[in-house]
Amino acid sequence: MRLSPVKLFVTGAAAAAVIFTAVAVLRPMEALARSDIVVYKTATCGCCHKWVEHLEENGFNVTAHDVTNLGAIKTQMGITNDLASCHTAVLGRYVIEGHVPAEVIDRLMNEQPAIAGLAVPGMPTGSPGMEGPNARPYDVVAFTATGGRDVFVTVTPRSQ
Ligand code: CU
Ligand code: CU
Repeated sequence: MRLSPVKLFVTGAAAAAVIFTAVAVLRPMEALARSDIVVYKTATCGCCHKWVEHLEENGFNVTAHDVTNLGAIKTQMGITNDLASCHTAVLGRYVIEGHVPAEVIDRLMNEQPAIAGLAVPGMPTGSPGMEGPNARPYDVVAFTATGGRDVFVTVTPRSQ
């Protein structure tokens, strides 16, 4: 079948539109950078400070806020008791709760899954900022706004 120049143009434009749409869908919803992370913590939290240092050592440019109403911030961010830890961070549209390792946050930024955020509930020994003896593997939980909970990765701490 031969197409007139006009039809060729229209067909080409339609194909381009389809390709453009596909690329737009495949592209991450938001460009996330390590400098986008904002941490909410209390002024006296030593392990929170150590976690911020861990991020900085791994190339993150952290904005940290000492707050007195951390509980209210957690509620606002959808952090329920089963997810809660000592500090709450925001990275783009994601919430990062607790001692999540920098490399796991990098993976989150690369994959951009359809979740609300990641949490390391409690403060497991061996997580970054919680170094100590008898460290055990711990889970990083991927959570959704509707109560979904999944193990994003199980981290085995390096012996220390
Ligand atoms: Cu802590
Ligand atoms: Cu903390």
